[in-house]
Amino acid sequence: METQKEDWFARYPSLRGRTVLVTGGGSGIGASIVEHFAYQGARTVFLDVAEQAAKSLAAALATRVEYAPVFLHCDLTNIQALQAAIKKAEELVGPIEVLVNNAANDERHKWDEVTPAYWDRMMDVNLRHQFFTMQAVAPGMKSHGKGSMINLSSISWMVPSTGLPVYVTAKAGIVGLTRTMSRELGPFGIRVNCVLPGAILTEKQVRLWWTSEYREKIMTSQSIRRQLMPADVARLVLFLASDDSSAITGQSHIVDGGWV
Ligand SMILES: NC(=O)c1ccc[n+]([C@@H]2O[C@H](COP(=O)([O-])OP(=O)(O)OC[C@H]3O[C@@H](n4cnc5c(N)ncnc54)[C@H](O)[C@@H]3O)[C@@H](O)[C@H]2O)c1
Repeated sequence: METQKEDWFARYPSLRGRTVLVTGGGSGIGASIVEHFAYQGARTVFLDVAEQAAKSLAAALATRVEYAPVFLHCDLTNIQALQAAIKKAEELVGPIEVLVNNAANDERHKWDEVTPAYWDRMMDVNLRHQFFTMQAVAPGMKSHGKGSMINLSSISWMVPSTGLPVYVTAKAGIVGLTRTMSRELGPFGIRVNCVLPGAILTEKQVRLWWTSEYREKIMTSQSIRRQLMPADVARLVLFLASDDSSAITGQSHIVDGGWV
């Protein structure tokens, strides 16, 4: 869990008491997003399969924030389970007003070894659930007359990154999904934006991919020569969730330190 400098960064009065659903909120960027919403006084529910990490995050925040974030175990690749979890979340906190589609799996794979079954599995974990979460929370947002959906894409399809083509394809698809859903839902006061992070230093990135060569590549590719952290993404997500961004929808917001 990252430490909040509460007196330094923005506080959004419009997020106080707001109901928020974060997918994949148990670790990485998602955990930072959960933490940031919790410190804004939002009522946050997060879904994950990483039981232990998710429970310790919920426990660590419980005594420090106005509304303790609620963890619900859910495998997002199972759409029925996902729909049931969202129903449960709405029973607990009321209709969801902010949806953050964050969960993903950036497992590396070689393009010439991808099978149809692997393709489907990676699309299920990286793309499909984003549509079905939107479909599930939209009726509540419609009845409320407003809502904000924030979909985590990636700069990987713009760079373009190699060594994980199915993930990259899914991340590009999220931009299209965001554009069309912003048109579908805009008339009901629901905004849909996507966020494209660059290289963000999560625990998993450090554990699996971090080498001095990779660090060097990041530092030469970024215009800003500092390591980007999950909080850098979370603060953009807060802004897009808040009423401060009420005229912004259908857009891609890049947080990559100026990657060239
Ligand atoms: N870290 C980066 O550098 C980076 C860069 C670009 C984009 N992103 C995007 O940001 C988002 C978060 O990335 P991250 O690096 O924190 O990822 P991560 O892999 O560290 O965390 C993802 C979270 O999603 C959960 N999750 C995975 N599969 C799940 C499933 N089937 N059901 C429920 N939960 C599941 C994991 O348990 C984990 O808590 C992703 O959408 C990712 O594509 C990250």
